[in-house]
Amino acid sequence: MLKTRNCGELRKSDVGQSVTLAGWVHRRRDHGGLIFLDVRDRSGIVQVVCDAEVSETVHQLASTLRSEFVVQIKGDVRARPPALINPNLSTGEIEVATSDLHILNPAQTTPFAINDESEVSDTVRLKYRYLDLRRQRMQRNLMLRHRVISFIRRFLDQRDFIDIETPILLKSTPEGARDFVVPSRVHPGKFYALPQSPQQMKQLLMVAGFERYFQIARCFRDEDLRADRQLEFTQLDLEMSFVDSEDVQVLMEGMMLALFAQLSDKKVQLQPFPIFTYAEAMERYGSDKPDLRFGMELLDLSDLLADSGFGVFASTVQAGGQIKALCAPGCATYSRRQLDELTAEAKQKGAKGLVWMKVVAEGLRSPVTKYLSAAEQEGILRRTQAQQGDLILIVADQPAVVAEALGHLRLLMAKQLGLMDANVLACAWVVDFPLLEWSEEENRWQAMHHPFTSARDQDWPLLATDPGAVLAKAYDLVCNGMEIGGGSIRIHQQDHQNQMFAALGISPETAQAQFGHLLEAFQYGAPPHGGIALGLDRIVAILADEASIRDVIAFPKTASATDLMLNSPSPLDATQLTELRLAVTTADDA
Ligand code: AMO
Ligand code: AMP
Repeated sequence: MLKTRNCGELRKSDVGQSVTLAGWVHRRRDHGGLIFLDVRDRSGIVQVVCDAEVSETVHQLASTLRSEFVVQIKGDVRARPPALINPNLSTGEIEVATSDLHILNPAQTTPFAINDESEVSDTVRLKYRYLDLRRQRMQRNLMLRHRVISFIRRFLDQRDFIDIETPILLKSTPEGARDFVVPSRVHPGKFYALPQSPQQMKQLLMVAGFERYFQIARCFRDEDLRADRQLEFTQLDLEMSFVDSEDVQVLMEGMMLALFAQLSDKKVQLQPFPIFTYAEAMERYGSDKPDLRFGMELLDLSDLLADSGFGVFASTVQAGGQIKALCAPGCATYSRRQLDELTAEAKQKGAKGLVWMKVVAEGLRSPVTKYLSAAEQEGILRRTQAQQGDLILIVADQPAVVAEALGHLRLLMAKQLGLMDANVLACAWVVDFPLLEWSEEENRWQAMHHPFTSARDQDWPLLATDPGAVLAKAYDLVCNGMEIGGGSIRIHQQDHQNQMFAALGISPETAQAQFGHLLEAFQYGAPPHGGIALGLDRIVAILADEASIRDVIAFPKTASATDLMLNSPSPLDATQLTELRLAVTTADDA
């Protein structure tokens, strides 16, 4: 090794030791005859002193050093005089008196400073990702990510799970998100697809008798990117045989609690994790991934206002819709402009409008109070338990629109009120999802989770008669308003799988062509099985206090699906295209 010790590990107990260090010049301070260097390696920073009186050559060389030069230093660890102790640095009680200095590699001035955490534009950070990763924040995030993954591997290994790799070159199947495809050179005109998840493989591993499988699995989905979504992301993927939903949930809850205890200072709000049905979560929070760090639940006013003189309210209830409210504490001070902004937010989520009511000393102040009876106004106050100074926000519409709009406003108000405590982990299970959801676009039922999820035992007969009413043996894990995991008990019998494909409008021929392997496997003694996948990037982002999963991934893509460092995606040259028998019809070589 070019070094005997790490910079950040040196302590008072090392005083008197001769050490060789190697690392980067973090900072240089020139005090004439004395040059102080902060030398950094992965472990941290140590102060190095180059004294002209000890060695003129070393001092001379040190005066040429600039930030991010790579250096090797030999010297003695010595205690700092009491007045010069730096309590903010773990190595702050000592320094290294240099006797020998080598420049291993000089460095140009970096496009941004490595030694401070000043704001740098995302574009520049991603273009020079290797320098961005050198900064403290990203070093910390990736080390945390490593510790999370190591913890999970150890935890599952101790519980008899075995890690099995599954193919990256897989097969395109309908359902789910859009696939990334890979052309086959050997089979012109045919394509592999990258896995959106190892779902079918892990089920086949259960048929194969492995009973407990896991994998830290890379997944690929050609979706629009958001703060919590990347084209390729990482799951803890897991599958078990001979289990029910509760078994998977108990195992995962135990793992997450142990992981939180070991790797985070954040406080788990409630344990055991509360369990909500999908219907209850939508009803109370307007979301199937509710942020439970704060209240502000949605309250149903439909019964109170069904016969109201305000036409919108009465007609909505008549049309089978609902009127719901949330109460934002202390927000009666909101200005006209702020209220207009809230209305615009609600409309953006599909609401036709937003009624606001300020709670003042005399009662309710709102553009619509003139249409409401005293009893109706009193009812609203009682139902919302609003106090003077609060702001009530009301949306009337079909339930899905109300949930979407008010669920959004709930999060917005919580953000504005600072109710999202970053030091709290509020986890919950959401269960009893509908098996299917209606797709207006495709004019057919779609699997809400995926087509391999089992209906509840008692609901199978409903599948042919009332598909929308069938509930699934599916469960999501949510934390601080993010879906951090989802799984289900699977279909393991061929006739059930056929019924499911039929409900999705997949013909027997298509089912055979696309999923024949699975249907066939189910004929050879498939055990009952189920599992889950946790979004690893999202979990690490929550623990690292990062708003975007991009900041916990070493080399992520931008929001427009590009890699700014590698300049990908990129065109193929003509030879490659010919070899693959591909022709590009509309070239967009941006
Ligand atoms: P699902 O599609 O719900 O389930 O994915 C599981 C978890 O993966 C995370 N996730 C993502 N993270 C980052 N970027 C993305 N684009 C992205 N998409 C999903 C989420 C999500 O909860 N095979 C099933 C699991 C199963 O049934 O066992 C599956 O993939 O945190
Ligand atoms: P209008 O009758 O369109 O002038 O609307 C009167 C007020 O009711 C405005 O503040 C609208 O934003 C609001 N409003 C209209 N439709 C709805 C609705 N479906 N739910 C809640 N508020 C609404």
